[in-house]
Amino acid sequence: MLKQQSILIAGGGSTFTPGIVMMLLDNLDKFPIRQIKFYDNDEDRQNKIADACRILLKERAPEIAFSATTKPEEAFTDIDFVMAHIRVGKYAMREKDEKIPLKYGVIGQETCGPGGIAYGMRSIGGVLELVDYMEKYSPDAWMLNYSNPAAIVAEATRKLRPNSKIINICDMPVGIEHRMAEVLGLSSRKDMTVRYYGLNHFGWWTDIRDKDGNDLMPKIKEHVAKHGYVTPAELSSAESDIEASWKHTYEKAKDVFALDPETLPNTYLKYYFYAQDEVAIADPNYTRANEVMDHREKLVFSECQRVVDAGTARDVKLEADDHASYIVDLARAIAYNTKERMLLIVENQGALVNFDETAMVEIPCLVGSNGPEPLVQGNIPRFQKGLMEQQVAVEKLVVEAWEKGSYQTLWQALTLSKIVPNARVAKQILDDLIEANKDFWPELK
Ligand code: NAD
Ligand code: G6P
Ligand code: MN
Repeated sequence: MLKQQSILIAGGGSTFTPGIVMMLLDNLDKFPIRQIKFYDNDEDRQNKIADACRILLKERAPEIAFSATTKPEEAFTDIDFVMAHIRVGKYAMREKDEKIPLKYGVIGQETCGPGGIAYGMRSIGGVLELVDYMEKYSPDAWMLNYSNPAAIVAEATRKLRPNSKIINICDMPVGIEHRMAEVLGLSSRKDMTVRYYGLNHFGWWTDIRDKDGNDLMPKIKEHVAKHGYVTPAELSSAESDIEASWKHTYEKAKDVFALDPETLPNTYLKYYFYAQDEVAIADPNYTRANEVMDHREKLVFSECQRVVDAGTARDVKLEADDHASYIVDLARAIAYNTKERMLLIVENQGALVNFDETAMVEIPCLVGSNGPEPLVQGNIPRFQKGLMEQQVAVEKLVVEAWEKGSYQTLWQALTLSKIVPNARVAKQILDDLIEANKDFWPELK
């Protein structure tokens, strides 16, 4: 009999929470649960999601105890896993992260460039607070964190909470691997074994094989060279399920791949290699945050309201996010020592032999009850090394700036970002960001 788990979802009011709950319900045979709690610092927002999830859980798994709270002690007591997806400053601040740089002709993006730096300066404190609550009230628990910007958050927890049981993870490689599996006609991405290295939202696949050891890279490369990561199904149907902005990202992977045809790239590299192209197609008055607020946020909250009004979740239209099952894979690996191979964001410590030992890198790991065991990926080529040295320095400078409250250090971080053209523009953006973030950032001197 598998031990039943007690789960805390931190960021209970997130648009992803209902999908995670549905996904947990779909996996109860593999990952049995006795309790689910929600925690958020916005009671109204969380209640809208929690009221619908309470109905859903009562109908589909009445044996699971459910509660939602904004009180840390109540939330973090008696927990095995904290699944954390908070967004400090919510979409209102994401919108500013995206629009302020665009005023200066610079990419405005959730996790890359100045937007990601601004978001990092807000997230560090929020995530450290969650870690501290967990250690105080459930010291044996693990935190599976996917709050962004994961690269900066991971560096902050490495440096400032070195002994904490937090594992940072991203769903972008999982999502791209789903697409690769479709290109190959495989039923699951788990039929592939991959080698990959990089930083979060900044990495490359170097080897992809089937279970018999056959090389799958040539067939994927042939497709990516023509169509990026747009799937065969998406190519053949006029009506696509994916949003236009994501479709563009998958198409653009073709141009990203062209830079290094030896490897297959993460989609986020487009912001670093083709910064001007991305600025040219951006609408400075309507960015991704606006799209998300108009679509995903409205849809999730109105569907939750409908469930509450109807008093039943029988015909609920919110679907289990099947990408999110990597979170259960990770939790299971720790809970039941499965030794699953997964890409995680961990301290390098020699896994990339010729790269900074203290960098937080995204690489394959075997995961068991004592956490991730990173797999050596060897030496990395000069092109990737050069890019990664610059980017990891940005991430480390942001954490230093947060820690010291240093204007100078944050200005250096922005200037070093490949996306920012020069120090003058970096300063203009920084001054606007400071003004916009005064309720969230430490005071900079
Ligand atoms: P959202 O704004 O809908 O939800 C975030 C929730 O966090 C809100 O309810 C907010 O009130 C709450 N919150 C903010 N600060 C908090 C704090 N200090 N303590 C407790 N709760 C707090 O956002 P979303 O779009 O659903 O995304 C949630 C998070 O998940 C974001 O950080 C997003 O970037 C991240 N995400 C990461 C991945 C990944 O690959 N790592 C994938 C998808 C989403
Ligand atoms: C991917 C990334 C996440 C990011 C999300 C943005 O899933 O891995 O880190 O937060 O995309 O998606 P959105 O729909 O909010 O723009
Ligand atoms: Mn991510």
